[in-house]
Amino acid sequence: MKKYVIIVAGGSGSRMRSDVPKQFLKLKGKPVLMHTIERFYKAFDNDLEIVVVLPQAQHNYWKSLCVEFEFNISHKIVSGGVTRMNSVENGLMAIGEDGIVAIHDGVRPMINEKVIKEAFSSAEVYGSGVVCVYPKDSLRVIKNHESLLTQSVNRAEYLIVQTPQVFRVEQIKSAFKSASNYEFTDDASVYENTGKAINIVIGDYDNIKITTPEDMLLAEALLNG
Ligand code: C5P
Repeated sequence: MKKYVIIVAGGSGSRMRSDVPKQFLKLKGKPVLMHTIERFYKAFDNDLEIVVVLPQAQHNYWKSLCVEFEFNISHKIVSGGVTRMNSVENGLMAIGEDGIVAIHDGVRPMINEKVIKEAFSSAEVYGSGVVCVYPKDSLRVIKNHESLLTQSVNRAEYLIVQTPQVFRVEQIKSAFKSASNYEFTDDASVYENTGKAINIVIGDYDNIKITTPEDMLLAEALLNG
């Protein structure tokens, strides 16, 4: 079956408090986004079509980085949208009509081959493969944001959702068409909105999403480990 990955890096990354978008920050001397693309490429070699979603204004900069770093892994570049959902939709428009597609955050460069392959296998067998981990901390639900009125919840009833999230192409395309009036923060929610159940793949804690400055230190340490 044809395989795709859509790597979304179309956001503004305001939480990083850096002039350089987080996908271009250097991890062991190389842009974060290149690490992420390499992880997928190494899992399937040429048996995978790679689509990278970047804000239009960053396309030329990214191309110049690829030249500078002699980065030769073949990929299509498409434009990001206002929301993450818009960015994923743009990526979906750039791929064929059937096969399996992984949707992955560009700022998760630590994803490993085993988890990638398990998520694809899950989508082949069950229609979806959504990578999650169990929470390590205790959790509280916020009842009132202003007064910070909270209540403890049973952590055993929760999972932390990561990416990749992998689906059959025709099913996720049609799910996005019927979800255009909603604002979901991940693709599993879009898929589930059609009434289909999600199949979970338990992933790894080191698949961090680089969001705030200390995440870069952690990612460097993990890469060195
Ligand atoms: O905002 P959040 O941390 O959920 O972003 C997760 C991923 O989605 C990031 O890789 C970010 O670049 C991407 N994104 C996007 N287009 C947007 C917003 C976020 O591709 N409009």
